[in-house]
Amino acid sequence: MWRADVITIFPEMFPGPLGASLAGKARANGIWDLAATDLRDFATDRHRSVDDTPAGGGPGMVLRADVLARAIDAIAPEHDPRPRLLTSPRGKPLTQARVRELAAGPGVVIVCGRFEGVDERVIAGRNLEEVSIGDYVLSGGELAALVLIDACVRLLPGVMGKEASGAEESFSDGLLEYPHYTRPQLFEGRDIPPVLVSGDHGRVAAWRRAEAERITRERRPDLWAKFREADLTRMADAQAPAIPPKKATDG
Ligand SMILES: C[S@@+](CC[C@H](N)C(=O)[O-])C[C@H]1O[C@@H](n2cnc3c(N)ncnc32)[C@H](O)[C@@H]1O
Repeated sequence: MWRADVITIFPEMFPGPLGASLAGKARANGIWDLAATDLRDFATDRHRSVDDTPAGGGPGMVLRADVLARAIDAIAPEHDPRPRLLTSPRGKPLTQARVRELAAGPGVVIVCGRFEGVDERVIAGRNLEEVSIGDYVLSGGELAALVLIDACVRLLPGVMGKEASGAEESFSDGLLEYPHYTRPQLFEGRDIPPVLVSGDHGRVAAWRRAEAERITRERRPDLWAKFREADLTRMADAQAPAIPPKKATDG
């Protein structure tokens, strides 16, 4: 079973939205599980303190390395094979490729940052992988953890219906997805593109591909450049001779 453990000062935020819909059903069916642990359980003073003032001064508070390390060691001891992630705006941006890797593994352990962040020594000492969900600042890592877990859970075998498989989604082949339409045929003077009701599967596939390329080119030049680069590499690989040509000799 794929398992997510979350370390947080707000365990009541979990499972939150992950208790509903596809993820909630899949959890009830034993496909995955989630446990949220209260970081304050690992404090040692009577106030259950988990943070302190930043060394060097400045505003805000910092999550203490010793308290966090005790929590991590209890939840994910050294032999636990799951990656240990730390939600952080300065982390590596989360991508569908990384989500796919995480979903294919045994699960995740996620530390939710709060306040100004986390003492750097526990990041190094417990080998935490910093992950960002976008270039903006949340007030805490809990929403980021929910986003990451949701993205993984929907890819677990048995969670999505066959018809909603992830194979043709945005990012699956480096492109954003083509537009969708459904009944009614005419909506406020706008028709469904005729090709989609032509019954010609080849033309439908070609139209969708062209639209996916157009939308990616227009909206995400960064993804488009990567896609083009990969495409050129694929073309060069396909054209390369399988056997290197014999070297000409002087006789
Ligand atoms: C108020 S933020 C701290 C921001 C930090 N002082 C900075 O400037 O980078 C508190 C916590 O929210 C979480 N967080 C905020 N934005 C995030 C993002 N874009 N992705 C992932 N986690 C985020 C992190 O766990 C962070 O430690």
